[in-house]
Amino acid sequence: MVGVEVLEDADTLAERAADLIGDALREKPSLSVLVATGHTPMATYAELARRDLDASALTAVQLDEYLGLGEDDPRSLWGWMRRSFVEPLGVKQVVRLGEVPDPDEGCRRFEAQVAALGGIDLAVLGLGPNGHLGFNEPPCGPGARTRVVTLTPASLASNAAYWGDLPVPTRALTAGMDVILGAGRVILLVSGVHKRDILARALREPPTPEVPASWLQDANTTVLADRAACGVTRGPAFP
Ligand code: PGA
Repeated sequence: MVGVEVLEDADTLAERAADLIGDALREKPSLSVLVATGHTPMATYAELARRDLDASALTAVQLDEYLGLGEDDPRSLWGWMRRSFVEPLGVKQVVRLGEVPDPDEGCRRFEAQVAALGGIDLAVLGLGPNGHLGFNEPPCGPGARTRVVTLTPASLASNAAYWGDLPVPTRALTAGMDVILGAGRVILLVSGVHKRDILARALREPPTPEVPASWLQDANTTVLADRAACGVTRGPAFP
């Protein structure tokens, strides 16, 4: 089941997302949260950090990671997650991807750690320009496990915007669709006109491997999208 809220702009979206995440945390202090990086959630995390929340019992679970980078590499998604979410919110427990040298072993270990948490309570996700969630690249079915993936040209192009002159690694680890769709609740953050067409496909087309985010139609999903992403430029925010 998908609920869609159309917000005025990226700032209002971040405030609404922080409201929902804050409410979930107050209700369950030991919340397990799957945490996306990327540009879209950054304003939400900054807003959360400004609020008086106690995240000391929360467990932050990493959504994805490039393969083969050292921990201190500026492109490390763990580094991005640590700087934007873990440290500002005072998170004490984390489950990471890619900590062990053997990637397949790392994926098994990750899924076991998530299972030991009792699964994910809340997944905070962005929407890839190709419909990916994490690095679950199309085509991708709903049962895809946590695994090593090769990035599609669309993801390589969009990720290039994060790293200036540094090349984007071509392979990555991603939490599986099984982990995402098993979450108690998913909040999908979508901002900007460049996401309009893929958001429409994810919400309106029958679920398909060609748009991995379309599988969210079968999960407990709240989409927070700004007007630009919804193609709504005038009139009431809730058309
Ligand atoms: P973005 O990335 O938030 O930087 O647009 C989203 C994604 O690729 O999942």
